[in-house]
Parts: sequence; structure tokens; C-alpha cells
Amino acid sequence: MTNVTVIGAQWGDEGKGKIIDWLSNRAEMVVRFQGGNNAGHTIVVGDKTYKLSLLPSGVVQGKRSIIGNGVVVDPWSLLDEIARVGAAGLTITPDILVLAENAVLVLPLHRELDGMREDAAAQKIGTTKRGIGPSYEDKVGRRALRAIDLMDPASLPAKIEKLLAHHNVLRRGFGHAEVDAAALLVSLKEIAPKITPFIGSSWRELDAAKRAGKRILFEGAQAVLLDIDHGTYPFVTSSNTVAGQAAAGAGVGPREIGTVLGIVKSYTTRVGEGPFPTELKDATGEKLGERGHEFGTVTGRKRRCGWFDAVLVRQTVITGGVDGICLTKLDVLDGFEELKVCTHYELDGKRVDYLPADANSQALVKPVYETLEGWTDSTRGARSWAQLPANAIKYVRRIEELIGAQVALLSTSPDRDDTIMVRDPFL
Ligand code: GDP
Ligand code: IMO
Ligand code: MG
Repeated sequence: MTNVTVIGAQWGDEGKGKIIDWLSNRAEMVVRFQGGNNAGHTIVVGDKTYKLSLLPSGVVQGKRSIIGNGVVVDPWSLLDEIARVGAAGLTITPDILVLAENAVLVLPLHRELDGMREDAAAQKIGTTKRGIGPSYEDKVGRRALRAIDLMDPASLPAKIEKLLAHHNVLRRGFGHAEVDAAALLVSLKEIAPKITPFIGSSWRELDAAKRAGKRILFEGAQAVLLDIDHGTYPFVTSSNTVAGQAAAGAGVGPREIGTVLGIVKSYTTRVGEGPFPTELKDATGEKLGERGHEFGTVTGRKRRCGWFDAVLVRQTVITGGVDGICLTKLDVLDGFEELKVCTHYELDGKRVDYLPADANSQALVKPVYETLEGWTDSTRGARSWAQLPANAIKYVRRIEELIGAQVALLSTSPDRDDTIMVRDPFL
């Protein structure tokens, strides 16, 4: 038995939340290790839908859930989310949730700076405007406030002063009012007693769990193509999203992350700006979007849609460290007469088998497709391999061949139970 790390293998929204919830049934702890409330993970259980941003998806099954040190945490947003899921029947107490003491805080000034930059930029990233980039900048710049600072309010004024010395210069440059240190102090002191009961140590929790032989599920947010190093820079998020980050962002050694399960959508979507070689700006793209309900969980933005790009996933299997995949949303492809899969690109008349690193080439590569026959029978809600039409199986097998990784799980609807296990990732 091993631990399992779940990451997105495309541009996000592959269905990580659904699969983590499903897997968490057999784990004793779920840990988020990067990102923040830019993530939107949807979990459907019967007639209930939970939309989680900061809370690890293990909370739905009442599993001990850790927000690891690699996550950037907006404490106001965390409390809102706890209230929201509380109204939906999930009570989040410190018995269930631990917030790493060394996690960095996202403050209103980060959200505002994210917005100012996006609004002023000629070439926008299309961020979620949640302050994620600016808060990671402050972390690396060694001026961030961290969760543990809320336990020591007396230390806050000096830390705020250091932070504002940086931010107020930027704000003046953008023609915005400076942040009032006293007001920020008041609001932090106000929220501190509501957050501190959750604060603990991620690495010690995980060490104790390991010693007790407990199984741990590491929950990634975003996806490899949004990784700050391995993604479509600069159209990326500001954290590492690859499996390697699970170790650093939770406080365990690299051998502890176990089997890496890459979540892969049966076609491709992207929300925000940036290159997307197989994007379909036509009726087929619209159809994928409608059938897949491709609207962002966090911002409600329409997701861009296109055919499955095997070049990208072949690459993210390697850079992400993926051992096996979960293919999701196969049902969305039901009824298409034919399906296209991108096998390689052409750039300046030459064959290219990977995504070039520079943004210009990324925008210029031309996808070369292979056409597969579609299927008319429904796969929606299928719970066994035997229920799948022959052409759906051919599609899955061809994808496995092209990306160099095998399907461990298959998802056929948003519902938790509509999941087929081909290979147990915990074994
Ligand atoms: P995440 O960010 O990777 O957790 O994915 P999101 O929750 O943002 O987006 C995935 C969407 O697809 C959600 O609305 C899920 O309920 C839904 N979903 C997940 N798996 C399937 C599936 O196999 N079929 C269909 N039709 N929808 C799915
Ligand atoms: P989940 O975990 C899809 C995208 C944004 C933008 C870029 C940078 O639900 O898969 P940021 O606010 O992070 O600075 O935005 O990254 N992005 C996501 N796209 N799913 C996500 O998370 C995303 N989180 C960020 O749209 O293009
Ligand atoms: Mg999402």
C-alpha cells in the first residue's frame, strides 16, 4: 500500500476534486500542497454539489485534511468557504482541518495588486485575481505574513511595516491609495482568533501519520501546463504544480508522495489567456463546452475548448512525474461522429513532438491530427469497462499509446460513484 499524489496533467479543471474525493474513501489524510483559492474543485455526491477552493477535497468524506505550507491562504476566503460548506452540511472543525503554521497569507492588498496589474497589462495573463501571484512573490521576497504570525499579534506591526514598505511603492506607481497599516492590523487581529484554532504543523502531522501507517493523499491544484517552470510561461500560475511539489509543499521527503496519478480530461480546456494549439473556435468547440459545462468554478469564465492534445499530455506525464492517469469526462464525447487527437505539431514545416519552451513558438505550432471513429451509445454513468462501447475503448487505448501512460481510473459523470477502477493507484 502506498500514498497517492493527484495532479492535473493539462491546464486545470480536469476533475481532480471528484477523483480525490473518490480516493479519499481509502485514505486517512488529504493534503493540499500548492496554489490557493484560485483552485475550484467540484465534488458531486448524489443531489449534493460541493465547490471547494482552499479546503482539501478530503473534507467531504470527513477525512483529516491539511492545508500544507506550500499553499497561499486568504484567511477571509477560508472562513467564507467553511461557512459555505457548513450550510451544505459539512462541519469543519479543528479535528478535521489543519492549516500549516508556515503557510503564507493572502491579504486584500495581494488581490488588489493582482487586479491592478491585470487591468493595466497590454497582454493579460487572465488570472483569477485572487492575489495568488503577488502573495507568492512576497513569500519568495521574504516579506510575507504567515499563518503563525496570527498567533503572535504583537509581532504584526513590524511585519506589516516591512510588507507595506514594498507594497505602497507599487500602489503609488499604479496611482492607488496606500494601504493603511493601522486598518490592516485591526482586520488581522479581528480574524486571528477565528483562524488560530486550525493552525498546526503540516510536517509533524504527516510524520505522525506515517509512523502510524496511515495512507495519505496529496491533492494538487491547477496543472502541469500552468506550472511556473514547466507550463506555458508566462501564462501560468505562480507555483509549481508538478508532483515533486507535493513533498516540498507538505513537508515530507520525495519518497513519501507515492504513486502519482495524473488527471486527464478526454479533450482539452483552458481558462485564461495563453497558447492552446488544439483550440476550436468553431461549433465543435462550442459543443464540447456546452456538453462539458465548461465554465470556471472560481470565476464563472467560459473555458476554451479543443481536441485532445497527446503531445502536451505526453510531455506532462514526463515533467509532472505521472505514473498512471485518470481519464475524465469521456461521456462528453458521446455522440460525436468522429474525434480528433493531436499526435504531433508542425512548426516552420518541420515535425515537432513536444511543446517548444518559447511563447512565440507555442503560439505558432500547428496541430497534426489523427481521426478516430466516435460512438453513439452513451458512456455516461458507466461503472465498468464492459459497459463501454468498442470505439470508446479504442479511443482510450489510443490515448494511452500516444501519451505513454496507462489508465488507472476512468470517470464517466460528475458523480462520485460513476468511476471505473482499472488499476488501484494505492497498490
Ligand atoms: P478540478 O479543478 O480539476 O477539480 O475540476 P473542476 O471541478 O474545476 O471541473 C471539472 C468539472 O467536470 C466539474 O464540474 C465536475 O463535476 C465535472 N466532472 C468531473 N468528472 C466528470 C466526468 O467524468 N464527466 C462529466 N460529464 N463531468 C465531470
Ligand atoms: P483548478 O485547481 C484552471 C489559471 C488562470 C490563469 C492562470 C494564472 O481548479 O484546476 P492565477 O490566478 O493562478 O495567477 O492565474 O492560471 N488558473 C486555473 N485554470 N484551473 C485552475 O485551478 C486554475 N488556477 C489558476 O485562469 O490563466
Ligand atoms: Mg477547477
